[in-house]
Amino acid sequence: MIFSVAIDGPAGAGKGTIAAFISERFQLKHLDTGLLYREAARLVIENGVNVLDVVRLEEVAHKVDPHHISQELLRNENIASVASQIAVVPSLRRVLTQMMRDFANDISPDYQGVVFDGRDVGTVILPNADVKIFLLADPEVRAQRRAKELNFTFTQTVLEEIKTRDARDGNRQTAPMQIAEDAVILDTTFLDIKSVCEKAAEIVKSAMQSKDLVLKAIG
Ligand code: DC
Repeated sequence: MIFSVAIDGPAGAGKGTIAAFISERFQLKHLDTGLLYREAARLVIENGVNVLDVVRLEEVAHKVDPHHISQELLRNENIASVASQIAVVPSLRRVLTQMMRDFANDISPDYQGVVFDGRDVGTVILPNADVKIFLLADPEVRAQRRAKELNFTFTQTVLEEIKTRDARDGNRQTAPMQIAEDAVILDTTFLDIKSVCEKAAEIVKSAMQSKDLVLKAIG
C-alpha cells in the first residue's frame, strides 16, 4: 500500500493550495479530484449532453483522462456548477472514482505516495488513507477567496453559488461531502493559508515517520 493523504472540504476552503504544498514538501503525487468532475462537465457542455441523461453521463466519464486535463479551461463558476450537478450521478461517480484509484496505484517510483483533494477522498476514494484532513471555513470567507482568486468582484451571487454547491455536494445520496470519522478538522476561517499548510505538514510528517518513511524532502 502506498502512503496516501486525503484532503477534503468545500469550495474555497484552501484544499488545492494545501495539497500542492504537501505534494511538494513530501514528494507525494497530487491529484485534484475536482478536476475530473470539471473535465466531465466541460465535455457535457461541449457535447450538449443533458445533465439528467445518466447513460450519456457515464459515457462522458469514460472520456476523462486524469493525465491530460487542461486546468485553464476549467477554472470558472459555470463549469463548477455543472460539475456539482453531474456529481450526483452514481454511475458517473463510479467511473471517476475507479480512475482516481488507478491513478494512485500507478504512480512512478519517484513519488513516496499520493495526496488527493476533493469531497469524498477520505470517505470513499481512499478510505484507508494514512492521513485525512477536512478543511472548514465560513462560506462568506470562502466566497471572498474565490472571487479574489478568479479576479472578480465579490457579490451576494458568488456567496449564493457557494452555498448552493455546498448543499448539493453535502446532501447528495452517493458519496456526499462528509467528514471522515478519523479526519483531523482544520478550520481555515481565521488562519492564513501559510499556517494551515504548516499545520497540515506537521500531521503528514508524523504519519510518515510512524510508517518509517524516509522524509526525502525537508520536513
Ligand atoms: O473541488 P472543485 O470545486 O473543483 O469540485 C467541483 C465539483 O466536483 C464539486 O462541486 C463537486 C464535485 N466533486 C465531487 O463530487 N467529488 C470530489 N471528490 C471532487 C469534486
